[in-house]
Amino acid sequence: AKSGYDHYMLKEIHEQPRALRKCLRGRVDELTGSVDVEALKGLDPESVQFVACGTSYHAALYGAQALREAGVHAQAFLASEYATSPAPVGDDTLVVGITQSGETADTLSALREAERRNVETLAMTNVVGSTAARECDRTLFIRAGPEIGVAATKTFSSQVVACNLLAAALTERHDAREIVEALRDLPSQVQTILDDSRAAQVADRFVDSSGYFFVGRGYHHAVALEGALKLKEISYKHAEGFPAGELKHGPLALVTDETPVFALVTGNGGKATKTVGNVKEVEARDAPVVAVTDGASDVGRYADAVLEIPETHPRVAPVLANVQLQLVAYYIAKQLGRSIDKPRNLAKSVTVE
Ligand code: F6R
Repeated sequence: AKSGYDHYMLKEIHEQPRALRKCLRGRVDELTGSVDVEALKGLDPESVQFVACGTSYHAALYGAQALREAGVHAQAFLASEYATSPAPVGDDTLVVGITQSGETADTLSALREAERRNVETLAMTNVVGSTAARECDRTLFIRAGPEIGVAATKTFSSQVVACNLLAAALTERHDAREIVEALRDLPSQVQTILDDSRAAQVADRFVDSSGYFFVGRGYHHAVALEGALKLKEISYKHAEGFPAGELKHGPLALVTDETPVFALVTGNGGKATKTVGNVKEVEARDAPVVAVTDGASDVGRYADAVLEIPETHPRVAPVLANVQLQLVAYYIAKQLGRSIDKPRNLAKSVTVE
């Protein structure tokens, strides 16, 4: 069942090119850049609220940013907090529940809260026939195929691509076509990373570190959080992700020569320059820096190791960066002999609040 892979997690990481192609198939017009998704027809919300947990919440953070960039008011909420402090809704609010399993109790209850308030709901899920798919007004399937490993990998990538479909369906953006083209190239770029990643060497080198930090700005913030979550859940080592700009507001106190900092830097615009500035600060504290980069900036100069990703649209780069981090987490956990597919204390779907 693992088709020659040692773990389902590694198998599922390698299934990403195929999963992403399936997510896009028949849904985008490559000539015009327009998106044609049955489930999203006629949607024209004034604002969008994403609700999700864990990895799916990181996809939601990405999705909210993509929608804001496209001119739609959008926010991401942790589903377990949404019920405690529900955001105000209007007649034209759309609540989007991102949930791989479609069975996560917190996400279902946030979606039910939306139903109670008469707000339109959309489930973004992997599982046909799941509770979220049955209960929501609309369902956008991410088509990633079954995911057995407890750690979500391919489904995160597919959720991010589905968020781009949503953003494109809701707005006319001038660069819609460039984004669609970048999405079309994404599966083969993921394959390039899978064929030739230095993640195993990076894992070997830093397996004994006392803690790990992940920093990035904008879309890369979501990936920084995801990189840290993946590493902590399967390796049981302490890992923390945060927006690069927050480093000096506290976390920098923990940065030492025993705590590698993974810096996500693509392009060479203002965001990249600022993150390179943060990288110099951690380098000055003797922390090993692992740059995950397309090579467009000079971050590599300050890095102890570089994990390369192919160049692409800034909207799409985070998926590629995340694939490198999935591999790092996998190889660190493997070195440590952890129970990768079934980490202690965790369940694939969390059906209690
Ligand atoms: C992490 C992980 C969890 C899930 C979370 C939500 O690797 O798998 O954090 O992302 O429990 O699950 P779904 O997406 O099924 O609602």
